[in-house]
Amino acid sequence: SEVYRAGVGGAKPAVPVDHAALEQAARKAISAEAFAYLAGGAGGEATMAANRAAFSRWQVWPRVLRDVAARDLSIELLGRRRATPFILSPIGVAELAHADADVAVGRAASELDVPYVLSNQASRPMEEVAAAMGAGSRWFQLYWSRSDELNASFLRRAEAVGCEAVVVTLDTHLLGWRTRDLDAAFLPFTRGQGIAQYTSDPVFAELVRDRVARSTGPGERPRVTPTLLRSAFSIARSAVGTRLVDGGVRDALRSPLPRAAVETFLDVFSDPSLTWDDLARLREWTSLPVLLKGVLHPDDASRALDHGVDGIVVSNHGGRQVDRSVATLDALPAIVERVAGSVPIVLDSGIRGGADAVIALSLGATAVGIGRPYAYGLAVAGQEGVREVVRNHIAELDLTLGLAGHRSVAELGPETLRAAG
Ligand code: FNR
Repeated sequence: SEVYRAGVGGAKPAVPVDHAALEQAARKAISAEAFAYLAGGAGGEATMAANRAAFSRWQVWPRVLRDVAARDLSIELLGRRRATPFILSPIGVAELAHADADVAVGRAASELDVPYVLSNQASRPMEEVAAAMGAGSRWFQLYWSRSDELNASFLRRAEAVGCEAVVVTLDTHLLGWRTRDLDAAFLPFTRGQGIAQYTSDPVFAELVRDRVARSTGPGERPRVTPTLLRSAFSIARSAVGTRLVDGGVRDALRSPLPRAAVETFLDVFSDPSLTWDDLARLREWTSLPVLLKGVLHPDDASRALDHGVDGIVVSNHGGRQVDRSVATLDALPAIVERVAGSVPIVLDSGIRGGADAVIALSLGATAVGIGRPYAYGLAVAGQEGVREVVRNHIAELDLTLGLAGHRSVAELGPETLRAAG
């Protein structure tokens, strides 16, 4: 009713309510390369299409005359009551959408009491985002680095800034075949806009220092501060421009610090050799609850349970990693069956509004993650844009729930739906 009342009162929304219009508004608000990065998927973007198509195979089956005057959207997740079943999935390189980047998202998330998963590839250090969020609920998303010291350091920092959980993303051990980025010859990470967790990290600084010392000979151990690291990346960025590969890059990166910073980052970013056996190490680094993001197969869900994880995020990274992958909503039921209520299941990839959330929750998701829609809101109107997009998801969920004849999210189940066609 807040949304309708504001509209009737003549207040113009900061962002379009319709998703397609929102996407178009974001396209206009930012550079072509930035939009390509936000909106694009892997390969021919068949996974992105499949994520959406999967929702069309289900229909909400409304019931009437069931007293839905009072409705409860809250859920229990990781030991806490949450106002709604939404979380904000981690989105890296948010600076491409808006200069306020992760700070704007964090503030909007706090305002609406929605947990925000801080990205490993954030544009702002987690300390700064956490400070802006106040008491707002935050989790930290880890890309498991080849450097155990760096993993431990990121997780130490996440605990120190009050993150409630760690989401380990397992689908990005290699970067997907991102067609639009390749066509734009665009590599955001080396452009320095998604490396704030690294430039602010003491262990990363040490790794860069070691590398400089190795390349310039013993005795040369430069001081490496966050400021120096940031300028090293921006030197690399201006050398790279928007080109992935360019003769000038190698020349510019002959200067030791920028070169060492970029090479160290590329070296440690991920570890494609990880196996289930490595998971035990994670527990040595943190006592926070651990969720695995990128689980799509029920057998992997079972293995995750065997390893004592605290939650599963059914995600295909918004179709940005494996093209022609299974859609998340299609993957969900078998995983729900295997998990059998023992840990929470978050679903993302394809959620575009509250009605989509109703479908995912009815099929057994505990919570749903919003991705691109809030990034588009950020691009169009910063913090206010994110707030409106998320609020619209909440409002549509509330209305769909009530119109379908349900009083609470807890009431949703397979009987809420009917297979289409
Ligand atoms: C992502 N995603 C992501 N995931 C993650 O674990 N760490 C990250 O840094 C990022 N970065 C990122 C950037 C951009 C621009 C996008 C669009 C996505 C994936 C994200 O968490 C989520 O899984 C998807 O966004 C969900 O798909 P939809 O809803 O955006 O289609």
